[in-house]
Amino acid sequence: MTHAPAFASDPAALSAMLGWAETRIRTGPDPRSGALPRDRLDAALGGSVTAGGLGWDRAFALFSDVIAPSCRPFDHPTSLAFVAAAPTPAAQGFDAVLGAAEIFAGNWDGGSGAIHAENQALDWLAGLAGWGDGAGGVFVSGGTMGNLSALHAARVAFEQAHGRPERFRLLASTEAHSSIAAIARVMDVALDLVPADATGRIDVEAAKDALRPGTFAIVANAGATNSGAVDDLAALADLAEARGLWLHVDGAYGLAALADPGTAPLFAGLELADSFIVDPHKWLFAPYDSCALVYRDVTRGAAAHGQRGAYLDALDTHHLNPSDLALHLSRRPRGLPLWFSLSVYGTEAYAAAIRRTFRIAQEIADGIEAMPGLDLVLGPQLTVLLFRVPGMDRAALQAWAEGHRRSGALLCLPTTWRGETVLRICVVNPETDPTHVLRVLETLT
Ligand SMILES: Cc1ncc(COP(=O)(O)O)c(C=O)c1O
Repeated sequence: MTHAPAFASDPAALSAMLGWAETRIRTGPDPRSGALPRDRLDAALGGSVTAGGLGWDRAFALFSDVIAPSCRPFDHPTSLAFVAAAPTPAAQGFDAVLGAAEIFAGNWDGGSGAIHAENQALDWLAGLAGWGDGAGGVFVSGGTMGNLSALHAARVAFEQAHGRPERFRLLASTEAHSSIAAIARVMDVALDLVPADATGRIDVEAAKDALRPGTFAIVANAGATNSGAVDDLAALADLAEARGLWLHVDGAYGLAALADPGTAPLFAGLELADSFIVDPHKWLFAPYDSCALVYRDVTRGAAAHGQRGAYLDALDTHHLNPSDLALHLSRRPRGLPLWFSLSVYGTEAYAAAIRRTFRIAQEIADGIEAMPGLDLVLGPQLTVLLFRVPGMDRAALQAWAEGHRRSGALLCLPTTWRGETVLRICVVNPETDPTHVLRVLETLT
């Protein structure tokens, strides 16, 4: 019996879509793209979900003409706010292929080759951290999910060793990423925040004093989001070991620097941690969404995660499944674009790209120091720097930032540092041109 497919294909439209993807990868985004208010999107997109369908061409035109231009182009080299993105052409091209390959990589049965390749990328990261054969992990959607999955494993390990305390407690610094507070709420644990020093590093003595019965993990920063600060991981590892606690290192942004082995001294002590995360979609040149969660002893991750169900009984149990290591079941192999890009360019290209971003951040910092009217406040720490513009309040800085965002010249936003409004720059893109950035910053003076 022959019958028409439920959903028709359109070869010409398909080819046009793939052509759009190719052009986007080759030419990059339009830096003038950015958020539109809801009423303008309503007017432009209207009722695009209809009973009869718009057809491929019209629906795709909505994406190319309305949706894509209303989204912030984080991967443009002028994007220096938050922690941006800078996927390599190979990673981005491969991601498009990956969408077409439709691989289920929740378990070995569904995606063995993909999982094996992802594991090679994870092994590379674990090796850079100084971890041995027992290490392993999984790629999850982002740093938030990576931190949550690691901290759940930490709590399970604590409970197995010490029993259930009256109240579970988590210790972190005031500079910990906002995801840590959100995770404490989700896990329903107390969060004890310890002050940080003038550069944003946790006060280790204060951390010692803040440990209480029920504290099950210490969260260290390896690249705090606001300041780039890297905590004293060796001292925190000593403290964690002395008290039988789990040390989790949040390196969502900063641990990407490990790709340049010359940065290893910055992270001394990482080899003693129990888990870390790093987001390839931040400073490791991969597209959204991808966070590498790595356990020093992968069996401790597996002891805490995994799902059971009669419908899962038929699965291969001889291999560790990605779904055994974090809070998820179905997943795409979101670590493969990193693996592919590493395979294409080699790890030395990654080291060189990291070194280049360090140089760019330093050149911008030097330029700011030399510019009358701007004061460098902090950094660069890793590739984050903060500077003040005397005489300009938050509203004036915000207006300046919005003007340059809209023209496509620069995305650089204010933040608050020690109660003061300052401008913040974070460089993750090796194509950022420091001369161009400094030319735009001159308009502040
Ligand atoms: C240090 C740090 N941890 C965690 C996160 C959360 O990562 P994600 O946005 O991928 O969930 C971020 C995001 O910027 C971060 O900078």
